[in-house]
Amino acid sequence: MTCFMDLITSLAGMKAFSRRVRSEGNKLGLVPTMGALHKGHLSLVGRAQEECDAVVVSAFVNPAQFSLDEDFARYPRDLPADTATLNPFRVDVLFSPSAVEMYRQGSETFVEPGSVATPLEGACRPGHFRGVATVVLKLFNIVVPNVAYFGQKDFQQTLVIQRLIEDLNLDVRLVVCPIAREPDGLARSSRNAYLSPSERQAASVLYRSLWRAEELFGAGETKAERILEEMRKILDAEPRANIDYVALVEPTRLQPIALVTPGSVALVAARIGGIRLIDNTFLGSPGGHVDPRRAGSP
Ligand code: PAJ
Repeated sequence: MTCFMDLITSLAGMKAFSRRVRSEGNKLGLVPTMGALHKGHLSLVGRAQEECDAVVVSAFVNPAQFSLDEDFARYPRDLPADTATLNPFRVDVLFSPSAVEMYRQGSETFVEPGSVATPLEGACRPGHFRGVATVVLKLFNIVVPNVAYFGQKDFQQTLVIQRLIEDLNLDVRLVVCPIAREPDGLARSSRNAYLSPSERQAASVLYRSLWRAEELFGAGETKAERILEEMRKILDAEPRANIDYVALVEPTRLQPIALVTPGSVALVAARIGGIRLIDNTFLGSPGGHVDPRRAGSP
């Protein structure tokens, strides 16, 4: 296979590449990932390539954002597969550092995000966003991108990163890209690979609950409690699904709302079998929706 892309594993190598690219006046884009690349990640890569002169994709399974009872050890890791996936896209660099170099022994400084990291994912996964904010700041310091691309799939994460950029005066622009979905609406995710065929079928229930919220809001329902009740009904009807949360919030501080307005966000987190999945949608936003009743099978 001809390889068009540089694989860089050392921090010094990454910094040298970045210095060179930026000193020539190029705009550098970064797509941070944990690898196990899928079409959701690739949509971020495509956007970065449209907007930047050089693109770095990082693939690093960040131990600091997993708690002890989570899936860090079995999170899918396959650098050759990620290299093969990215190669046709001709990104400039796949940056895949080691945990030993990213977190030198004795490393004890972390970024503590504020209130936007507290509800929802923050409540279900204590310490998660501290780990995310820390590794993203490290990646920004090593890669020094002009622009960083994140997915709306992890909506709360994008708010945490935006606050990181603002509060710590970082010279990086955040671009949030739409959620890439399977034909039945399921948000693409590295964790979908864990699902058995019957769990995979059941997993579309997250999107179906969001779709129901969209449908009710489109028909004039604005009472959040009423919409949440209907969303829960859909999730409860799927025996393989266990809800972590279903929420309707405003989109800047994630505060619960009583009345839904255009731009309010519906979010859901549920376990299908043992696999934890999340999804969300802006209510009343045109386009980007898959009608689960008309979708073919994936
Ligand atoms: P990961 O889960 O690998 O996701 C990397 C990026 O891809 C995130 O910004 C995520 O929101 C985006 N993404 C994932 N699935 C997507 C989909 N279906 N559509 C659009 N974008 C999608 O998020 C992380 O890694 C980590 O927390 C990280 C930011 C890399 C820090 O370790």
